[in-house]
This record gives sequence, C-alpha cells and structure tokens, in this order.
Amino acid sequence: MRLPCQLHLLASSALLFPTALGYPETGRVHRDGQLLKRSADSFLATEKPIALQNLLCNIGASGCRVSGAASGIVVASPDKSNPDYFYTWTRDAALVFKCLVDTFTNSYDTGLQTQIQNYIAAQARLQGVSNPSGSLSDGSGLAEPKFYVDLTQYTGAWGRPQRDGPALRAIALVGYAKWLVSNGYTSTASDIVWPVIKNDLAYVAQYWNNTGFDLWEEVSGSSFFTVASQHRALVEGAALATSLGTSCSACSSVAPQVLCFLQRFWSSSSGYVISNINQNNGRSGKDANSILASIHTFDPAAGCDAATFQPCSDKALANHKVVTDSFRSIYSVNSGISQGVAVSVGRYPEDSYYGGNPWYLNTLAAAEQLYDALYVWNKQGSITVTSTSLAFFKDFSSSVTVGTYDSGSSTYTTLYNAISNYADGYINIVAQYTPSDGSLTEQFSRSDGTPLSAHHLTWSYAALLTVAARRAGIVPPSWGAASVSVPSQCYGTSVSGSYTLATSTSFPTSQTPISTTLSSSTAVGTGATSSTTASTSTSVTSVATSTGCAIATSVTVTFDELVTTQWGQTIKIVGNIPVLGNWDASKAVTLSAVDYTSANPLWWASLSLQAGQVIQYKYINVASSGAVTWEKDPNHTYTVPSSCATAVVKSDKWQS
Ligand code: NOJ
Ligand code: NOJ
Repeated sequence: MRLPCQLHLLASSALLFPTALGYPETGRVHRDGQLLKRSADSFLATEKPIALQNLLCNIGASGCRVSGAASGIVVASPDKSNPDYFYTWTRDAALVFKCLVDTFTNSYDTGLQTQIQNYIAAQARLQGVSNPSGSLSDGSGLAEPKFYVDLTQYTGAWGRPQRDGPALRAIALVGYAKWLVSNGYTSTASDIVWPVIKNDLAYVAQYWNNTGFDLWEEVSGSSFFTVASQHRALVEGAALATSLGTSCSACSSVAPQVLCFLQRFWSSSSGYVISNINQNNGRSGKDANSILASIHTFDPAAGCDAATFQPCSDKALANHKVVTDSFRSIYSVNSGISQGVAVSVGRYPEDSYYGGNPWYLNTLAAAEQLYDALYVWNKQGSITVTSTSLAFFKDFSSSVTVGTYDSGSSTYTTLYNAISNYADGYINIVAQYTPSDGSLTEQFSRSDGTPLSAHHLTWSYAALLTVAARRAGIVPPSWGAASVSVPSQCYGTSVSGSYTLATSTSFPTSQTPISTTLSSSTAVGTGATSSTTASTSTSVTSVATSTGCAIATSVTVTFDELVTTQWGQTIKIVGNIPVLGNWDASKAVTLSAVDYTSANPLWWASLSLQAGQVIQYKYINVASSGAVTWEKDPNHTYTVPSSCATAVVKSDKWQS
C-alpha cells in the first residue's frame, strides 16, 4: 500500500513522541549501554515511518513534493536552489530503489511493487536518452550522472561520466528480478527487467577499467565505491542470467579482473582504503566512499571476507576506524569524543562543499557497517581479531590480542556488546541532530549540528531505512560474494558490448508472492536448475565429482593471438557461437593490445565458455576504416576443456 503524504499528520504524530527526537542533553555523552539502546530504539521507531513517507514524497509522478517528476523518477531533493537538486541522479535513484526492493522482498507490498515497476520502466527510457556523456549505441550515455525529472538530458557542465550508476541500477533491478524468478514470474524477469539490466552489465564489462568521476562528483580517477559496485553487479548479473536460462559471458570473464583491481585500493602500509586512485588531488584518501562500498556490497553469506571488503573483514574494520577517526578533530560537534565512541561522519576530511560538514547518510553508514558485522559475528559464533583489525578492536577492549574468540568467551561478549553500543551511538548522533518533524537534509553543521544543504534528501531517508533494518537483524539476500576469488594476476580485460533499448515496459498485473508451501517445494531437491538456487548463488558453476575435484561447468578461456599490426588496426575474434558473434564480423569480440610489444605482438581476450563445448572461430583484422581482413583457412576448432580447470589459455598465431 502506498502511504499518503499527509505531512501535517506526520508532524503531529512526531509530537506524540517528543522524547524520541532532538536529544539536547543525551546522545554522545551517554556511555551507558542501556540508555544508548533505548534512545536508538525509540528514535528509529518514530523515524522509520517518517523516513519512508518522506522518501515516497520525492518519487514521481504522485510524490507530494515533486510535482512535474515523471512516473518512477526519484528526485534527489525537492530543493530547486541552494543547492538545486531537482534532478534525478542514477546513483541516488538506484540506492533508493535498492532499499525499496529489499523492503519489498522482505515483506510484500503492492504499493511498493508499483513503485518498483514504475522505476524500471523509467530507467528503460532513460537508458535511451542521449546526453553529454554519450548515447546508448556504444553504452557511453549510461554513465551520465543526472537528468531532468522529465527524463530529458542535462547539458550543463558536470563531473561526468560517473561509472557507478549503471552498476548500482543493475544491482537494484537484479534484486527485483530475483524476487520474480523465485515467485514463478521468470518471463516477466526475462522480458521486461533483464533487457534493462543487460545494457547496464554490458556497460560495466566494457568500461569498468576507464577512469571517471567518483560518487561525490569531484574526482576523476578510479573510485573504490564504483569498482566495488561494478564487481557485485557483474557477479550477481551472471548468476541472474543463468537463472533466466541465458548467460552473461562478459560478466563472468570480467568480474574476477574487477575484483583483482579492487585490491589495489588497500594501502597495507597505511592500513586503510585509499578511496580514489589514479588521480592526484592531494587528499588523504580517507573517505566514507569506502564505508558505503562495504555496506552496499554486504553479503550475509560471505563471512568476514576481506577481498570483497565485507563489513566484518579486518580491512573494512581497520578502515572504519581510520575514516571515522579522521572526523574527530576537525568538527566541533565531535570535540572531546574519544575513540571508540560514535562521532558525526562527513564525506572526507578535506571536504569544503557547504563548508565541509557531517552528512546524515555517512553517519548512518558508519552504524550500518557495524550492524552488518554484528550480524555475521552472531551467525558464525565468533569474532576474529587480526593484526590488521587490532587497533579497531582495542578501542573496545584495550587488552585484546590477535585471535579468534568464540561466542562463549568473555572477550567475545565484551567486544560484541561494546561494538553494539558503539553502533547505536551513531544512531543517537543522528537522532540528536534530527529536527522534531523528523526531516533529514543532506548535511548538518560541523559546529552546532544545524541541518544544512538540500532539504528532504531522498538518499538520507533511504540510509535511515536500511540502517534500521540491519539493526533489527533484517539483512539483504546474498549476492554470491562467497564464491568469488581473486585471480593471481590482474588484467584490464574489457569486453565491448551491444546495447538495445528496452521497449517492453508494461508489467503484468497480479504478480503476488507464491504461496509459502509452493516456494519451499520449489527450493527442495531440484538442484542446480532450481530457480531459487540459481537466483541466490553463483555456486552453480561447478559440480562435485567422486574424486573430490569439482568439474567446472564454465571455463574462462583466454585467447592469445600473436599478430603484428599497424597503428589503427584492431584484432577481433569471431566464430560459430553467439558470444563469438555467430560469424558476423560486426559482432566480433575485440581483443586487447595492452600487452602488445613489437617483440611479443600479443592480442588477447578472455571469454567465459561452456565446458565441453566445441567451437570454430577465426581472427579478423579490422582497419580504422572498418575494412575487415580475415585470416586464412582453415577455421580454428577448439574444445573447451571439461575438467577441474576454470581458466585456460588457447594460444594462436595469425594464419597468413
Ligand atoms: C555538486 C556535487 O553534487 C557535490 O558533490 C560537489 O561537492 C559540489 N558540486 C562541488 O564540486
Ligand atoms: C551530491 C553528492 O555528492 C552526490 O553523491 C549525490 O549524487 C548528489 N549530491 C545528489 O544527491
């Protein structure tokens, strides 16, 4: 059911709980766990419905504050000046809908379902809107950061492109597609949602290795948040494709390389993530960018994996301390608050936008990472302290040492309770600086906590809703992070994609949840073909054998082709299967020349192929004019191995 936007009612209901909001004498000074907890409980109980109602007020066409916004369009904030946020940002909208999709899949609601459908239809159209970043024909237009709320392009100067947008949108849409599949509506997922997702995945696989602007729209380079989001989108996209009976071979071949690159942001000498690399802006690199990356790629089934920067991983915890500590001495509102006690969190310490202040969404993100960690520790029944995370844990027990502490131990209890209070402290800071009507702006003053910058920031409300869910133990579905691994060598492999406007956007009515009995019987005993299994895990890529070695079902084949080329020429591979363009030279896969030298004229590409598949192919040389030269006969024939190997190399030489 869609909640009506009757704000006079909201204001008066908030007055019924005057103690819940605007704590003048409480919040940060509370060291007592029970009081902290009760304050956070009552603030969230009051604030959650207010946040949802205000969030929906910023979504067109019927949102109460955004008249003129098209159906399904998320407006960043109703403000039209100081700052003018009356636009739709792909990032903000995707994060907002990721939150709504999680809310919806957790508890069915037809009003939210309509919103989700409207959002998907609007995104399908937006993908086709040419803009200053480019157009759909080569995918480049997908990374335009913002549009007018009537779906027209914004042509003013801006930090563009921003390459997190397509990845985040894919993640939000995959979430809904997975729900459709597990409730028996696979054709809706395939016919309406997948065509939109497919464009975004193709974009990520093609452009992930190009620099672009960070989520704060200021730095052009490589951004941790962007790369982490891209990795998740590819992993989740590949699994969804499988569950829909199709494939995303570029997703599977590129994802490991994106994960490989993600590792580069960690500075082991400094003990935190340098959020922006491949740029030179003189910043420390300490940035809430990395905390947001961790919470938005949280996978409750991935334990404390550090490669995917899971919230409870040693790297993510060490980073949490460094980033949050960086705001202690610079904001007066944080003055005198000791380490291990919650503080107001901004974007990055050097920030000067609106004077450089704490942000609600970043302060809430700091709490959310901790609730995610608490969830996993509780589930696994232990907390591990490593030399990397030791400083973080020492804030809660000065005598703690490196080791694993089981839930029965007093060290576990001490750490668990203290970190739980620490997390609640962040909620109480937000409570303290939230006005009594429950409205959330973008920032609050570093000197006295007064709300600043854009009013009713939609993303602030979404951040409140997700942290409230995590604190209540409601976690998002797994995206398959447990089954990824970091390749031993990193390559900048990219796969150029093809892009098609998604035109089928009217959703069938009455797509209600499958009955519980039916859904559990689908999940049981149907093995790798069960939609439930496939939609929630990527582990279907291998089957166990009696020898104990797992036979790979898909194999990353790297085609190495030695061929001397002239400047302007491109080597491609074309063959008799769809991923190789079905012998259509215009659909051939471009090889990379990043490793080309005159002594070793190597062109290569990695593709994910089915084990045991027999393929025929040839290389072609495409001149800058587009003229195609085929290598001589015969066609190459190759059988993809059916073995334990998940990655192999096929070496060829140009046949002349
Ligand atoms: C507007 C962007 O949205 C914001 O993130 C940035 O800090 C300012 N421009 C200043 O560049
Ligand atoms: C500025 C923020 O830096 C950026 O992340 C956001 O997308 C826009 N404002 C719109 O909310």
